[in-house]
Amino acid sequence: MCGIVGYFGNNDAVPLLIKGLKRLEYRGYDSAGLAIMSGDSFMVNKKAGKVAELESLVSESGLTGSVGIGHTRWATHGEPSDLNAHPHTDYTGKFALIHNGIIENYAALKKLLEKKGVEFRTQTDTEVLVQLISTIYHEEDTTFQSAVTSALEKIVGTYGIIVMCSDVPNQLIAARLGSPLVLGVGEGEYFIASDASPLVEYTRNVIYLGESECLFIGDDGYEIKKLGNSESINKKVSRIDFTLEEIEKGNYPHFMLKEIYEQEHTIVDTMRGRLLLDEGTVHLGGIQDHLLRIERARHFYITACGTSWHAALIGKYILEEFAGIPVHVEYASEFRYRELIIDSQSVVIAISQSGETADTLAAIQKAKEKGCLTFGICNVVGSSISRETDCGIYTHAGPEIGVASTKAFTAQVSVLYMLALHLGRKNGFSKKDGIALTHALHNLGDRVIDVLNQSDHILTIAKETMDANNYLYLGRGTNFPVALEGALKLKEISYIHAEGYPAAEMKHGPIALIDEKLPVVFLAPHDQTYEKVLSNIQEVKARKGKVITVTDKITPELESLSDHLIEVPVSHPRTFPILATIPLQLLAYHLAVLRGCDVDMPRNLAKSVTVE
Ligand code: AGP
Repeated sequence: MCGIVGYFGNNDAVPLLIKGLKRLEYRGYDSAGLAIMSGDSFMVNKKAGKVAELESLVSESGLTGSVGIGHTRWATHGEPSDLNAHPHTDYTGKFALIHNGIIENYAALKKLLEKKGVEFRTQTDTEVLVQLISTIYHEEDTTFQSAVTSALEKIVGTYGIIVMCSDVPNQLIAARLGSPLVLGVGEGEYFIASDASPLVEYTRNVIYLGESECLFIGDDGYEIKKLGNSESINKKVSRIDFTLEEIEKGNYPHFMLKEIYEQEHTIVDTMRGRLLLDEGTVHLGGIQDHLLRIERARHFYITACGTSWHAALIGKYILEEFAGIPVHVEYASEFRYRELIIDSQSVVIAISQSGETADTLAAIQKAKEKGCLTFGICNVVGSSISRETDCGIYTHAGPEIGVASTKAFTAQVSVLYMLALHLGRKNGFSKKDGIALTHALHNLGDRVIDVLNQSDHILTIAKETMDANNYLYLGRGTNFPVALEGALKLKEISYIHAEGYPAAEMKHGPIALIDEKLPVVFLAPHDQTYEKVLSNIQEVKARKGKVITVTDKITPELESLSDHLIEVPVSHPRTFPILATIPLQLLAYHLAVLRGCDVDMPRNLAKSVTVE
């Protein structure tokens, strides 16, 4: 979703901001813009479309200056257009503002300002905020700082903002509520961004702004205050935990492919130092202080969105099976508004790659209000969800740039396996079984390579099915969420309609879709459901559907029933859902590339959904 970048220092802000915006492109956007302070005025350039188009515009206009702000917009209020792109300016032309989030009471504020004679040029909620700041500044004859803070006190909604004012050209003000901001502290220069990726090239020292915190940057340095409080807050400077190389494509044509291949290491990295191979259990440092409460919980809720919700569903199956504890899985968008029977004996787990998804964050806040223990499974260190939860386990998959989540999913599932194993071992899961599973998990890297080596074979399958307009994915048990995830991957990046179903549910509706044009992907490991899935395959075959089977062992009956087979060799049956996800990622990737789609930046999608 929208990206923010700001610069305050002695260097030319323009190339730094353009590069920063390019690093934020992965978040998803439809327009981009810059405002650069030069002397005691600023100039704004903005453009619908890609950052490259803004870059050409900026080079024509000869913009330079050492203080500036830049933005990539993902439209919420008002169509994607040059005019609606940020920065927005006020009626006097003294203020420029960039904003992530949604101002919910913008209509009421707009009416109020219009009554005072303010004329609006855009349909955006953001323009209301900059006009409000300006109105307060002029009406109350107050300072830049207090105009911004008193405007923010009138706002209902979420924001991450940076504002500049031409009356105070050597100052930048930033603030956040529900939309992340990070300050990069360099040598005599400061960077502000919506995530750390634009900063890592210049500094590894960062401060994550907390909720309702305002940041004031000027010639004397920076100061952070809580909104409505005049005292400065002393905040810890953290170190960025990833390298520049990790956020670059390297030799891969797409981030998504790079991230699929990285799973050889990321799955193992997630479990590194956590598997106790000789004892057949795990050590999970991040939840150590709350273990007793977790072990005694009456039930678990797992809440998440999208791909992370699919991981949650696998978590339900294995936690209930290994540990015998009831687990409810809820979309965060439902969790936050639903009447839930939760209390201090409930553990609420939030799963999020970004740690910034608005609904998941709100679900956690609700769980806290109800007295539940909150537990985060996040990938981004220092993210809002990781800070808001009582305890948690990082997935350590490294930065995920491709909009379609891949390595984060397998890392999330790996964490859930470890959690299920830990709780299971307290609840009847034998040491012998624990040892077998920990060893299999420990050795997953080699098995991942076996799957990745089939990329060309999967490309051949993609070539043969690339004209299909619909796809069906079917699996049972823990492989039902894998089917859902396979379908989501395909939809997101290739725009082919796809659905995931529990295999047996096919007969209750989706079977009507089956004809010779419909590819049906089956997840068919040799577990207790194998025979049943085999019957489902036969039902599809009988109706001339194209069967693509992902299995742990090719058998003659699978060979005769399947049009295409993908073998995922496992050393432990439990690891099949993790490994079987990878060919589905590759299938979606190849299909999207063959159909000429923008794999890393699919239309309409944002990497991190920071608005409701
Ligand atoms: C995954 O491919 C999607 N882009 C999306 O469903 C994503 O998983 C969802 O928005 C949740 O994001 P999070 O894990 O960062 O909370």
